[in-house]
Amino acid sequence: MTRGASRLSMRVLDRVAVTKPRVSKPLRLIPAPLRIGRVAVAARLRRHGLGRRLMEAALLFCRENYPGLQVMLTAQAHLVPFYRGFGFAPTGEPFDDFGLTHVDMELRPRD
Ligand SMILES: CC(C)(COP(=O)(O)OP(=O)(O)OC[C@H]1O[C@@H](n2cnc3c(N)ncnc32)[C@H](O)[C@@H]1OP(=O)(O)O)[C@@H](O)C(=O)NCCC(=O)NCCS
Repeated sequence: MTRGASRLSMRVLDRVAVTKPRVSKPLRLIPAPLRIGRVAVAARLRRHGLGRRLMEAALLFCRENYPGLQVMLTAQAHLVPFYRGFGFAPTGEPFDDFGLTHVDMELRPRD
């Protein structure tokens, strides 16, 4: 990870009210074009809404700092509904990446 991307990760993390996170870089944001990756919540903290809050903070960061820039990500297939909930839509067919099915997605403006 570049130093710039690492700084972005921590700035996003600062916006999520997680106390003493064990994961130091729970999400990676690469600018121009914006690409969200490495979204992760520590296993013992999953299914408590932190992943959703992490994504909301990342997208707010994108809107505030890179207004109008396209936001993309590559989703594991079983998480497509999760990312759809934020307005992302698939841009291609599912593909295999190291044994896991993934789907490229981009953020589409809401009506
Ligand atoms: C994906 C991940 C970040 C979600 O974090 P989380 O804190 O558990 O997510 P939330 O509690 O905010 O869940 C929000 C929604 O995400 C979806 N979701 C979360 N985990 C899911 C899973 N394993 N399978 C399918 N949907 C899932 C659900 O719709 C969930 O809503 P619900 O709890 O009302 O059903 C977390 O499971 C993780 O770190 N996984 C390992 C790393 C990974 O696979 N990253 C994604 C790469 S694309």
